[in-house]
Order: sequence, then C-alpha cells, then structure tokens
Amino acid sequence: MPRVQGNGVRVHYESAGAGAPVVCLVHGTGGTGGVWTRQLEGLADVAHVVAPDLPGHGQSGGAPRASIRECVAFVAGFLDALSVRHVVLGGHSMGGAVAQEFALTYPERVDGLILVGTGARLRVLPRLLELLATDYPEGVSLLMRMAVSPTAPTALRASLDHAMAANPEGVVLGDLRACDAFDVMTRIDTIRAPTLAICGEEDRLTPPKYSRFFGERIAGSRVVVVPGSGHYVQVEQSEATTAALREFAQSCCRR
Ligand code: COA
Repeated sequence: MPRVQGNGVRVHYESAGAGAPVVCLVHGTGGTGGVWTRQLEGLADVAHVVAPDLPGHGQSGGAPRASIRECVAFVAGFLDALSVRHVVLGGHSMGGAVAQEFALTYPERVDGLILVGTGARLRVLPRLLELLATDYPEGVSLLMRMAVSPTAPTALRASLDHAMAANPEGVVLGDLRACDAFDVMTRIDTIRAPTLAICGEEDRLTPPKYSRFFGERIAGSRVVVVPGSGHYVQVEQSEATTAALREFAQSCCRR
C-alpha cells in the first residue's frame, strides 16, 4: 500500500491503474480506503484510482478531522501531494459529503463527481449519537444494523461489522457529528460537474430519496438505485456499483 505525506500527515492509500482520468474515492464514517477494493480492481484498466485512509482512520496518521470542510482540506492536500490537479472525485456517505463540499470549493478541479450512498444533508439519529457517546459498542452495533441490508450474506455483514468495530473509540462518533453538521441542500444546484449518484434501494442511513434529490438539483446528473443493497452499495452489490462507476469514469475523460 503506497504512502505519501499530505498536510503534514502520513497518508496510506490504495492505488490501482495509471494515467487519466484520476479517480479519487473517499470512504465514509469509520472506514478506510479498503472499502473500495472491488472498484479499484474493476476500474484499473480505464483509470488511475486512488483511495486514501482519512487522517486517524486505517493506517493514516494524524487525528480525525472534526468537520467535512477539514476533510476537504485534507483531500486537497493529498491530491496536491500526488501532483493531481484534475480529478473524478467520489465518496461514500461521509466521504460523499466531502466530495460535494470539495466540488463546491474547487469546481475547477473536478471533472466528475460520484456520490455513493450519501446526501446533501446528513442528519444523524439523535439516539445513535447518544448511544455512541455512552455505550460505544452498542452504538456501533446499532449503526451497523441500520447500515447493512438484512438480506446481505452473513460473512459480508460480519466483515463490515468487524471493520467498523476496529475503530478506536470516538472515531465513529466524531465522523457522525461531522455528518450531522453537514448541509449543502441550498447550494448543491450550483454544481456543474458531471455527476453520478448511486445508492442501495434498502439504504436506511441515506435513503434513495437523498440520491433522487441530487438528480433533481444537479443539472444532467444520473441516479442509479441498486436493488438488494443497504448503505454499503459498493460492497453489498459491488458488481453493479463498479459497472456504473466504470462507465461514468470513462465518460469523464478530459478531451
Ligand atoms: N436529501 C433530500 N431530502 C432530505 C435530505 C437529503 N439529504 N435530508 C433530509 N431530507 C428531507 C427529509 O426526508 C425530510 O423530508 P420530509 O419533511 O418530507 O419528511 C426533511 O428533509 C427534513 O429531514 P431532516 O433534516 O433529516 O430532519 P428530521 O427531523 O425530519 O429527521 C432524522 C432527522 C435524524 C430522524 C433523519 O434525518 C433520519 O432518519 N436520518 C437517517 C438516519 C441517520 O442517522 N443517518 C446517518 C447519516 S450519515
């Protein structure tokens, strides 16, 4: 797994493929770049794909960022460190919030925007925030019960549960607080980048309504709702998600 120094932080990231376009995929709450493994494999022949661990997550150094804007500054520094100016930027859940805010802050750098299981506002159930603050394991357990489709294979559920529970106490709560404060509902219509929004039909954390909102507000955007999946659509239905991302990345190549 390659590393780079960005914003004074040692950043671990997954990487596959080479050349253009560069597709950068940002993970969600309590995640790592590893959540995109299938997409890295599936896009490597059509793009250079990178997926960093955010600060304080996975193997990256530094402290978790407290807000979506701070995560945007981190991603900008990470791309600068890789000498990447123009990017097809994607994100899942909290990472999707980072991608939206990045596209609003640096529109000239974004050749395409991929919004996976996310929304323009990400209010979090108060009960979930309360549990994570008072009984962290129970809070993580509630989060994952809401996140993954009950029809997902047991082994897949177990591996997602395990990955989330591996976070140091407080990381998940910090990420969800950053989500809870995120709201670009009134600004999202200023995004001009080609946009793909994709989510699971059974997503209870960021329901399809949130993705359809992107479809209504972002000119020319495409919305894909994937049956048989909860919030982790890139994992639960990896083939359908990868196919949609692949087609989109190819359409975003700079001429
Ligand atoms: N896109 C489109 N519509 C959205 C939206 C988004 N990103 N976020 C909220 N809305 C809509 C809601 O559907 C609701 O519409 P309605 O009035 O037609 O029912 C309205 O905006 C207000 O919703 P919200 O701001 O979420 O406040 P609320 O008090 O109604 O609900 C929660 C608060 C926490 C119960 C609710 O946001 C929720 O169930 N969230 C999902 C669970 C969760 O914790 N997700 C974690 C996200 S990381």
